[in-house]
Amino acid sequence: MATVRLVHLKAALQWHGGTSSPPPPWSLFRLRSGAFRAFSSTMSPPSKAVVYDEQGPPDTVCKVKELPPVPIKEQDACVRMLASPINPSDINRIEGVYPVRPPVPAVGGYEGVGEVHAVGSAVKGLSPGDWVIPSPPTSGTWQTYVVKEQSLWHRIDKSTPMEYAATITVNPLTALRMLEDFVDLRSGDAVVQNGATSMVGQCIIQLARVRGIRSINIIRDRAGSDEVKQTLKKLGGDEVFIESQLEVKNVKSLLADIPEPALGFNCVGGNAASLVLKFLKRGGTMVTYGGMSKKPITVSTSSFIFKDLSLRGFWLQKWMSSEKAKECREMIDYLLSLTRSGELKYDMELCPFDQFPTALDKALGKLGSQPKQVIKF
Ligand SMILES: NC(=O)c1ccc[n+]([C@@H]2O[C@H](COP(=O)([O-])OP(=O)(O)OC[C@H]3O[C@@H](n4cnc5c(N)ncnc54)[C@H](OP(=O)(O)O)[C@@H]3O)[C@@H](O)[C@H]2O)c1
Repeated sequence: MATVRLVHLKAALQWHGGTSSPPPPWSLFRLRSGAFRAFSSTMSPPSKAVVYDEQGPPDTVCKVKELPPVPIKEQDACVRMLASPINPSDINRIEGVYPVRPPVPAVGGYEGVGEVHAVGSAVKGLSPGDWVIPSPPTSGTWQTYVVKEQSLWHRIDKSTPMEYAATITVNPLTALRMLEDFVDLRSGDAVVQNGATSMVGQCIIQLARVRGIRSINIIRDRAGSDEVKQTLKKLGGDEVFIESQLEVKNVKSLLADIPEPALGFNCVGGNAASLVLKFLKRGGTMVTYGGMSKKPITVSTSSFIFKDLSLRGFWLQKWMSSEKAKECREMIDYLLSLTRSGELKYDMELCPFDQFPTALDKALGKLGSQPKQVIKF
C-alpha cells in the first residue's frame, strides 16, 4: 500500500510541478482513506482518476493515478463522483479516433453523477449533499472529485437510481432526439433499428412505446440470442430478429400487423445497415448514429431510385450546441422521471472503481457481449 501511494504521489507531483504549464483542465482530488482531510476548505481533496497521457489502446494507456487538490473558486462546486459509465465514445476519445477529444494528459469519461462535496462562497442554489450531473456532459468524469463552475452542474432528484442518473445523457437523450427530430411519427407508426441491445437501442424501444410507436429490432447473431429477444420484447419491442433470420428476399413478409417503418436507426454499419434499409418504406429515412462493426454502409442504386430513401446522421455533441439544446435539462429531467417510474430501464453492471481494468475489458468487448459498464466510485 505504501508503495502504491508513493507512486501516486510522484505522479501527482510530476503533474503539479513538472512543467511550467498551468494545471490540466480537468480537476483533481482525494484519497478514499480520507488521509488528506487537512486541506483547506477552499481546496478540493485529491482525486483518484483514470488518466491517459497519450492516445492509444485504452487498456494500455489508461492508468489510475492520484491527482493533487485544486482550488474551489467562488463560483465553483466540488463534486464527489458517485458513478460514471464507459461508453463507446469514451473509448474512441482515448483511442484518438473521435472528432473532438480533450488534450492529453486527460481524465477519461464524459458523463456521470456526483454529490456536491463543497461549494465556493458565491454559489447559490447548490448545497453539499445535492446530487448533480454535468450538463452538458464534459470530459473528465472518471475520477473521485471534480471541480467545475456551478452553472455546469444540473441538480437532479436524489430518488433517481444512481446508475440511471449517471447514464441519462449520452444514450437516452440520443434516443429521444432521434425519435423526435427526423420524421413526424404518430402513434401506431413503426421504426426499425439495428444494435437493439445497445443502451440507445433499449431506450428507443421504450421511448417509442411511450408514444405508441412500434419497433422492429435487429440484433446480431450471438450466444443467448433467444434470451435477448425475450428481454427486448419485455421492454416493449414488437419484433426482434437476429440478422441471419433476415436473409430473405421480402423481409416485410415477416411483419404481421406492423406497418412499414418510415424511420430507421443504424449504429452498426455493414450488413446490419442494409437490413434496416430493407425494412424502410418508400421515402423512408435511415439515421446513422454509430458504427460498432467498423464496416461501411453500402446502399443499392435501387434504394435511391425506386425507394427514394434518405440517409441522415445524428451526433449528440453537435445537437448540444444547437438552439434546441436550450431545453436539454428539461429533457433530462423527463428521462430521469421515466427511470423512476420504471418506464425506462436498461441493462447495466456496476463495477467498483478498484476493478476498473475489468470493466474496461468488458466495455472493449474482450469478454463477449456485456451489459453497459458503470464505474461506482
Ligand atoms: N451519435 C451520437 O451522438 C451517439 C450518442 C450515443 C451513442 N452513440 C453510438 O451508439 C452506439 C451504441 O452506443 P451504446 O452506448 O448504446 O452501446 P452499448 O450499450 O455500449 O452497447 C454496444 C452495442 O454494440 C453492439 N456491438 C458491439 N460490437 C459490435 C460489433 N463488432 N458488431 C456489431 N455490433 C456490435 C453490441 O451488441 P451485442 O449486445 O450483440 O454485443 C451492443 O448492441 C455506439 O456506436 C455509440 O458510439 C452515438
